[in-house]
Amino acid sequence: MTEYPPQAKVLKKSYTNMTPEITILAIESSCDDTSAAVISNGYVLSNLIANQAIHKTYGGVVPELASRAHQANIVPVVHQALTVAGKRVDEISAVAFTRGPGLLGSLLVGTSFAKGFALVRNIPLIEVNHLRAHVMSHFAMEHGRENRVPGFPFLCLLVSGGHTQLIVMRDHSTMDLLGNTIDDAAGEAFDKCAKVMGLPYPGGPVIDRLAAEGNPDAFTFAKPRIQGLNFSFSGLKTSFLYFLRDRVAEDPDFISENLNDLAASLQRTIIEILIGKLVRASKETGICEIGIAGGVSANSGLRLAAGSEAQRWGWNLFLPEFRYTTDNAAMIGITAYYKYLRQEFTDHSITPLARIDF
Ligand code: KG4
Ligand code: ZN
Repeated sequence: MTEYPPQAKVLKKSYTNMTPEITILAIESSCDDTSAAVISNGYVLSNLIANQAIHKTYGGVVPELASRAHQANIVPVVHQALTVAGKRVDEISAVAFTRGPGLLGSLLVGTSFAKGFALVRNIPLIEVNHLRAHVMSHFAMEHGRENRVPGFPFLCLLVSGGHTQLIVMRDHSTMDLLGNTIDDAAGEAFDKCAKVMGLPYPGGPVIDRLAAEGNPDAFTFAKPRIQGLNFSFSGLKTSFLYFLRDRVAEDPDFISENLNDLAASLQRTIIEILIGKLVRASKETGICEIGIAGGVSANSGLRLAAGSEAQRWGWNLFLPEFRYTTDNAAMIGITAYYKYLRQEFTDHSITPLARIDF
């Protein structure tokens, strides 16, 4: 049996700290969470996240404020990640960061910090694609628990605030995009519909909580008819908005009187769209190693629905731990670990990118 996770070979370039133990400091700053993690030989030793409460006041992420908050948070978060991991700065073998996609001002903070750290320590710098990292979060190993990782090929539904994609992973580095949203992401549908109902940002978790007490069949909303394995959520958002506008015109208290049912019905519709395409992708590819990832994969209804489909179709299902669903640096570090094994390092001329093709 081959060793899992695989171990590093000798580096071709001469860097400091070329020990057999590969310890990666990872930074994630693509949106409104500042996160730092330490990963050692594929195991997560620490994963710290500083949330930015300031955006709640504005009902969404304000890019300039996010960038400033990252600047204030990054040093203390890195310090804490090292402390929790019990690692000194001179024990770090490489530094990884999110190159994109994300908010440029936010990405710049993480990228600049990582470059500075790598330069001072003379260690490799590893760039990571945020979307691929969400999928790779399924390979995060932890000491002291039974680690289950998917086999290949692995079909993953990536559902976040900015993306809704169906991805096939063929090995630790090869991923094919099977389907994508043609407009809004699933998380955006949750967040925007929540905003229409006057709920705080981010609306996804709030709708999840409200839906638990509601009737999912109370209301019906239009579902898109999109060919193949692509998604669309802008029609649902509009249909939800017009539905509420008409009902509120008749009864100004309609939203507050039906909040739980509205949340449950909206959630059911989003889940049906997502699960319908996931089942279809599994049938078309014949893949039964299935996972979900990204912020929306924390949704309790989606997890339940995926569980029932797994039973029905005999899937080997992977639901991420909650700490790996929303943005976190552990997923960046895990992705970077496999890049380290392939010696995929980047030079210091690299710049962050707000948009990156998958
Ligand atoms: O992956 P993520 O943290 O950031 C992006 O890369 O976009 O995802 C954030 C998204 C938000 O839209 C948020 O509302 C949604 O994930 N989300 C949820 C839940 N928890 C987070 N949506 C539905 N149910 C949840 N429990
Ligand atoms: Zn994300």
